[in-house]
Amino acid sequence: MSPFLVTRTLPEDATDAALRADVLHGLTRTPKTLPPKWFYDAHGSELFEKITELPEYYPTRAEREILVARAAEIAGATGARTLIELGSGSSDKTRHLLDALSGLHTYVPVDVSESALTQAGQALIAERPSLDVHALIADFTGGLALPGTPGPRLVAFLGGTIGNLLPAERAAFLTSVRSLLSPGDALLLGTDLVKDESVLVDAYDDAAGVTAAFNKNVLTVVNRELGADFDPDEFTHVALWDTEREWIEMRLRARSALTVKIPALDLAVDFTEGEELRTEVSAKFREEGVRTELAAAGLELTHWWTDPQGRFALSLSMAR
Ligand SMILES: C[S@@+](CC[C@H](N)C(=O)[O-])C[C@H]1O[C@@H](n2cnc3c(N)ncnc32)[C@H](O)[C@@H]1O
Repeated sequence: MSPFLVTRTLPEDATDAALRADVLHGLTRTPKTLPPKWFYDAHGSELFEKITELPEYYPTRAEREILVARAAEIAGATGARTLIELGSGSSDKTRHLLDALSGLHTYVPVDVSESALTQAGQALIAERPSLDVHALIADFTGGLALPGTPGPRLVAFLGGTIGNLLPAERAAFLTSVRSLLSPGDALLLGTDLVKDESVLVDAYDDAAGVTAAFNKNVLTVVNRELGADFDPDEFTHVALWDTEREWIEMRLRARSALTVKIPALDLAVDFTEGEELRTEVSAKFREEGVRTELAAAGLELTHWWTDPQGRFALSLSMAR
C-alpha cells in the first residue's frame, strides 16, 4: 500500500494565534465579522457533510453531475500526474476525477480540518492502494508549500468555496494559485451561479436547521479554544441575499443585548439587541466575471461546463 503522509504546514500554535487575531480583529470592529474557516473543527466538518445531503443544498449535487459528465474530458485536457485539491473536505466528489485521471501519481488534499483530511485520506488509500496521498493541513490563503511531485499539476478548488473569499481576497488567492503552476498546468474551479433569490436563500437556511447549527458552531469553537462564554441559543441564524454584490451572507443575530467574555483575549464584547455578526459570504458568479478574474491572475479559461439546470459551473483554466 502507498504511504499516506500528513504534513502540517502550520504549527498548532500558529493556528491558535490566527484564531486569536481573527477573533480580536473581527469582534472589535463594526460590523462584527468572523472568517468562515473557523466553522470547520471536527463537528463543523461533519455538519458540512450533512448540509451537502440536504434537499435545499443543490451545489454539491449539481457539481457532482458536471464531474460525472466531464471527468474524462478534464483528464484528457490536463493529463495531470499530480492533483492538488484545496479545501478538499471529505474528497467525496473528487473520486470521479481520481477514477478518470489514469496517469495520476499523487493526490495532495489540502484543508484546515485535520479530522476531515485524516478520514478522507485513510479511506482513499484503502480504496486505491497504488495512489500516493500526501495530505496537507494548511490554510489555502496562506502561501502553500507543495510537495515536489511530478507534473502536469491540476489544482482543483471545488464546492464553490472560492465564493467564501471577498473580491480582493479572491484576486490575491488566484494569483497565489497561479504561482504554484507551470505553463500547461491547470485549475479546475467550481463556482455557484447567480439564480433566483429564494433558491439561494433556502440553500443557506434549510428547514431542518442543519445550516443554522453549522453557523453557530463557530461560537462553540471560540468558546472551546479561547474560553469564551457565547451562548449559541442567544443567537439566530440569518441568511440574506445581497443583490448588488451578488452574494449570500450568513450572520448570527443577537436575540437580546448581551456581553460575551473572551478570557484568552482579555476581552468583553458587547452586542446590542438585533446586532449581527457576519460569519460567511458566499459569492455567486457569472461566466464573464469568472473569465475576467482568472485572466487577471494569468489563467486562461478554456472550458466552461454547467449542470443541465444551469445552477453551478465548473471551469478549467490553463496557466500560460
Ligand atoms: C464549503 S466546504 C467544501 C468541501 C469540498 N471541497 C466540497 O466540495 O464538498 C469548504 C472546505 O474548505 C476547508 N477550508 C475552509 N477555509 C479554508 C482555508 N482557509 N484553508 C484551507 N481549507 C479551508 C473547510 O475545512 C472545508 O473542508
